[in-house]
Amino acid sequence: MTNKYMYFVANWKMFGDLRSLNSLDKVIKFSKNYKKNKLKIVYCPPNTLIRPLSRRLKKTKIEVGAQNCHHSYDYGAHTGQVNSTMLKNVGAKYVILGHSENRQLGETDNLINLKIKSAIKSGLKIIFCIGETLKERRQKKTNQILKRQIEKGLKSINNRSKIIIAYEPVWSIGTGVIPKEADLNKTISFIKSRFIKKYPKILYGGSVNTNNVSILKKIPNIDGFLIGGASQIPKKFIDIIQKTIN
Ligand code: PGA
Repeated sequence: MTNKYMYFVANWKMFGDLRSLNSLDKVIKFSKNYKKNKLKIVYCPPNTLIRPLSRRLKKTKIEVGAQNCHHSYDYGAHTGQVNSTMLKNVGAKYVILGHSENRQLGETDNLINLKIKSAIKSGLKIIFCIGETLKERRQKKTNQILKRQIEKGLKSINNRSKIIIAYEPVWSIGTGVIPKEADLNKTISFIKSRFIKKYPKILYGGSVNTNNVSILKKIPNIDGFLIGGASQIPKKFIDIIQKTIN
């Protein structure tokens, strides 16, 4: 662990409604007992919940993020879209960009690059997701893919202080399968060498749960986790945090 604190980012994906916010009372209670310099909890709900959630979390140490944004910093005729400034206005401090579920829908490295630039301009912190598919892994192309995603995704971005990388092997998301410790160690070191030495925050994401987090936390350069399924159940989420920091 390279930094003074660990990140626990909850990616709720397309789950949750106003009632789900009540279940967070447990996490809020838990968060009161930890020191801010030890961990950072960020909830990324669907856009519909950003405002109510950020209100509810106002007096807590928990922060709120979004799961994607449009690439245009300027307002415009983009039906159904939301830009980074709008997200900031309703309380988001972070935005997840480049998630494989959006890459699979057609998001290219170039588009993600524009989104990152717009989010930086709006003052959001970015959780920039990268990761190889199973096919690419089998073809031993992992490093090549990650290199491309990092170089194109961060093209012409010199100040990377607001960017946190989330390494999420696509084959691990929602499958219950995680990389072998040695492989993950190598990949994280590779990403670190390719990214920036000054702000090397790297999260791991993909099937993080209460059972495997004890293994994952041993990887020296991991600065936290991006958690999907398990983050929707407060007890599991708290368990993951406790197992990591204790
Ligand atoms: P998972 O999702 O924890 O359910 O595998 C992680 C993610 O997609 O960010």
